[in-house]
Amino acid sequence: MSEPEPNGTPTESATADIPAETVADTSDVGGRAAVTDRTDHLAGAQDAVLRADELYAGYVPGVNILNGADLYVKKGELIGIIGPNGAGKSTLLKSLFGLVNVRSGTVTLNGEDITNLKAHSLVARGVGYVPQTNNVFPSLTIEENLEMGAFQVPAKFKERFEFVCEIFPALKERRKQRAGSLSGGERQMVAMGRALMTEPSVLLLDEPSAGLSPKLQDLVFIQAQQINKAGVTVIMVEQNARRCLQICHRGYVLDQGRNAYMASGKDLINDPKVIELYLGTLARA
Ligand SMILES: Nc1ncnc2c1ncn2[C@@H]1O[C@H](COP(=O)(O)OP(=O)(O)OP(=O)(O)O)[C@@H](O)[C@H]1O
Ligand SMILES: [Mg+2]
Repeated sequence: MSEPEPNGTPTESATADIPAETVADTSDVGGRAAVTDRTDHLAGAQDAVLRADELYAGYVPGVNILNGADLYVKKGELIGIIGPNGAGKSTLLKSLFGLVNVRSGTVTLNGEDITNLKAHSLVARGVGYVPQTNNVFPSLTIEENLEMGAFQVPAKFKERFEFVCEIFPALKERRKQRAGSLSGGERQMVAMGRALMTEPSVLLLDEPSAGLSPKLQDLVFIQAQQINKAGVTVIMVEQNARRCLQICHRGYVLDQGRNAYMASGKDLINDPKVIELYLGTLARA
């Protein structure tokens, strides 16, 4: 079976790569209830800034990690994506940002089909992305990392630097320090700051609180809210599911590459099924 063109739109041959059983709409995700009705998605996504429809994507030919995932975010929203390890959360963010080839389905930004556009084109269109790991240049200083973030808009460096330092004051004080010598929490601030240098309208954050102490985790959630309140639409993948659902306007539970639940953060955190399967002791098993 042939792989679709790396930067092309999904083709019939790409769809043919999808095993029949993953195309079929089942009502079960590994024994768990799954969202099979797309009505809420289709209604909510109508005036979305960024939306993904029935995404199939993966790394190895013939093996899909995303199995029809839907997602949308409206202007000004902060949405959270939670789910078990290996559910495809990072893959979903990467597929929105052109880092994983979408085999079938579409990604749309402000009504424009951006499926499989490369990351630099997406940055130019106002999408920012902070990867889960290796998200700073360790040998460069904080300031140089931020300059790298602004390489497409060097004239804006000063203005954006001030904006970033309002959210992360520690970065200004230590601007000449090498990123490699910073703590995990400080590195995360540099990574988020770098993505903000291009003035994104939508920011994708992959597990920004991972590996941090509880106190620093809390700070990251406060900073994500600050970024959102400053007018940036935020999509946040998080392993700290409860905290994420507490702060997000809307949340998704992703399981085995497709939507298991989608509701307001408040509804999800109080949903007995979500608690049992994803937030309780079973979720940690
Ligand atoms: N570069 C890659 N090549 C091949 N398989 C990959 C690659 N990256 C991820 N995978 C596989 O894809 C699946 C989903 O991975 P992904 O990183 O999207 O999950 P996740 O939900 O972000 O998990 P986590 O909570 O551990 O970060 C896993 O089975 C993983 O092994
Ligand atoms: Mg991940």
